[in-house]
Amino acid sequence: MTTPQTSIFNENSIHHYFLEYKLHSNIDNKTLITALSPVLSSFSAHDVEVVVAFGKNTWELLSPSAGEIGLKSFESLNGVDGYMLPSTQNDILVWIHSAHHDSNFDQALAVQHCLQSIAKLELELIGFKYHDSRDLTGFVDGSANPTGEDARVAALIPVGEPGEGGSFVLTQQWVHDLARFNQLSQAEQEKVIGRTKPDSVEFSGADMPSNSHVSRTDVKLDNTALKIYRRSAPYGTVAQHGLYFIAFSCQLMRFEVILQRMFGVSGDNKHDRLIEFSKAISGAYWFAPSRETLGVLFREEDRSLSENSRRHKGTHGI
Ligand code: HEM
Repeated sequence: MTTPQTSIFNENSIHHYFLEYKLHSNIDNKTLITALSPVLSSFSAHDVEVVVAFGKNTWELLSPSAGEIGLKSFESLNGVDGYMLPSTQNDILVWIHSAHHDSNFDQALAVQHCLQSIAKLELELIGFKYHDSRDLTGFVDGSANPTGEDARVAALIPVGEPGEGGSFVLTQQWVHDLARFNQLSQAEQEKVIGRTKPDSVEFSGADMPSNSHVSRTDVKLDNTALKIYRRSAPYGTVAQHGLYFIAFSCQLMRFEVILQRMFGVSGDNKHDRLIEFSKAISGAYWFAPSRETLGVLFREEDRSLSENSRRHKGTHGI
């Protein structure tokens, strides 16, 4: 029996906080574990959900069996028609989410307090639920997302395989050109996505353009649907806004296949029309280990930490 980081699956949150850190050079395993332990103990805080994941280099520093799962660092990708994806692989990802921005903020400050001596904060984004779970383009995001047990199957490495109960994660900060997208008529916008705008009905048959976002991302390989579990959130200000894409998968390969299809390098030279209106400015792969795996790695520190937190209860929930 393995328990995933359950906060991956809690969909009730309306506020999100995304933090990506780059480790300082020459950080050793012990220093890393000591700094991370208080972050991990915040799993039990009452009012926020926390997911922690690691880039390849950090996971190798933490886990002796890291090599078995096949985690990769994200590599930039040159697509057709001049489109490209950058790699900004960082080392530690912390995703905080809940119903309350103030609680998230307290938790984010506490994470920063724990990690600032070992890592530099490279990305900090505040995400939010936009109307009825829409992307800022106005389209519902998540309609075809798997739910319940299907979400767990899509997101989690199966029992018996290396990394069981853990998950591969892809994050990308996408910056939208809404002015450009909104110049399209609603019918044209719907062709870009492959669904209707008001009620998210998927096009079928000849109505579905082969270069719509849905066509490029709804992928089957040897009759198996390459499902991923998406938890992205809109972020931003009037000056810069878009989607922080975050998704979980039982196989890293699923992300690679979908991205290749979106960028026209999967054989048919067709790019996803959505990338004409939004540009990724970050990209990273991560591993979100199961709670048991984290428990083994952080056991010693956890024990001394819980004693500590019994003594100093009440600071930012950790
Ligand atoms: C600008 C960035 C993106 C936006 C605004 C966006 C938005 C959307 C929307 C509106 C849908 C249709 C409704 C739904 O089923 O959720 C959708 C579907 C989907 N997207 Fe994205 N998406 C983005 C990037 C990505 C990326 C980078 C991936 C994967 C690497 C991805 C994978 C998917 C998948 C798998 C589906 C469901 C396809 C299906 O089975 O019907 N999306 N997205």
